Amino acid sequence: MKKVLLFASGGGSNVKAILRYFQDRPEISFPLIITNNRHAGVIGIAQDNKIDVMLVDKDLFNEEVFIDTLEYFKPDLLVLAGFLWKIPGYMVKAFPNKIINIHPALLPKFGGKGMYGHHVHEAVVVRGESVSGITIHFVNEHYDEGTVLLQKEVALESTDTPEIVAAKVLSLEHTWYARVIDSLLQQA
Ligand code: GRF
Repeated sequence: MKKVLLFASGGGSNVKAILRYFQDRPEISFPLIITNNRHAGVIGIAQDNKIDVMLVDKDLFNEEVFIDTLEYFKPDLLVLAGFLWKIPGYMVKAFPNKIINIHPALLPKFGGKGMYGHHVHEAVVVRGESVSGITIHFVNEHYDEGTVLLQKEVALESTDTPEIVAAKVLSLEHTWYARVIDSLLQQA
């Protein structure tokens, strides 16, 4: 049995796509979804899939004791799927090369603190980029700087709005994140 902990702060469309991809794979389990946002749409997705939700506040999340909760599940992978908080150093150290994130741009461009969600796609449009895409990477102590596992590009038109860029990029996320998780779990 491989166990994956999911972290999300928002609507959870990536979580939904991941759960759908693994729905016929009982050997892969998702025992817990962790969120920092009591209004997150991902909570509804967790309920629909009968997955427990843990709502964390900043103090708890930054307390080393939180590691005991995470280690209780003996996770093979911690998957950030639109989780907006920086991962504390103690967590990165406790799960070396076991925490991954998806960024909705081609890092190192358009990455770092504050570059999330719509802010990324607006910056891409303002810069007049002809391509955007996704970066799936290991998480280290710095925002968006861990080893890159996969990048996929999508072509942009000069008329594309940030919303159109977001939709093009989100489609790549939904296609590729679960595949990268699957391949990492095969190696775990
Ligand atoms: C996605 O754009 C992802 O790239 C970023 O946060 C967003 C999550 O969207 N990390 P959702 O909550 O999975 O719909």
